[in-house]
Amino acid sequence: MEMNFHTRKWVKPEDLNPNHTLFGGRLLQWIDEEAVIYAIIQLENTKVVTKYISEINFINAPVQGDIIELGIVAIHFGTTSLTMRCEVRNKLTRQPILTIDKLVFVNLGEDGLPVPHGKTSISYVKDRLDNAG
Ligand SMILES: CC(C)(COP(=O)(O)OP(=O)(O)OC[C@H]1O[C@@H](n2cnc3c(N)ncnc32)[C@H](O)[C@@H]1OP(=O)(O)O)[C@@H](O)C(=O)NCCC(=O)NCCS
Repeated sequence: MEMNFHTRKWVKPEDLNPNHTLFGGRLLQWIDEEAVIYAIIQLENTKVVTKYISEINFINAPVQGDIIELGIVAIHFGTTSLTMRCEVRNKLTRQPILTIDKLVFVNLGEDGLPVPHGKTSISYVKDRLDNAG
């Protein structure tokens, strides 16, 4: 499956650690939000939570002024879960910044308990709307 690099970020002073490179916690915040948005769109449910994030490999540190892009792709549709992979890279040089092999999000019902999402593969909003027409 092809990875979608939707979101670009401009690394600003407030995003840095005391060594003047991108603070890892900030990058994880951006990734968690990117992944939950991806999951919400795929599962068509806004009540989705982060369950598990596998090893995080920080490859290169961005510096102030860098433009970075966040890539997410679904790799497994479970019964109540969706597993994604993440790559972050420099937008202009394509230099890799980070990889995460598995981010698992769980689809919840109104009661906050896991509920089957009924999805089995990646789908696109445009196709859903076209088909609904
Ligand atoms: C999400 C939550 C409701 C799941 O509860 P649970 O009792 O683990 O639920 P289940 O055992 O039914 O598992 C639900 C799904 O998660 C998967 N899962 C559970 N633990 C997992 C783990 N450690 N790694 C990967 N997947 C896991 C299960 O395989 C299942 O997926 P499937 O239905 O596609 O097979 C509960 O753990 C929770 O509320 N966690 C806190 C979530 C949260 O607040 N996140 C934000 C924190 S910053």
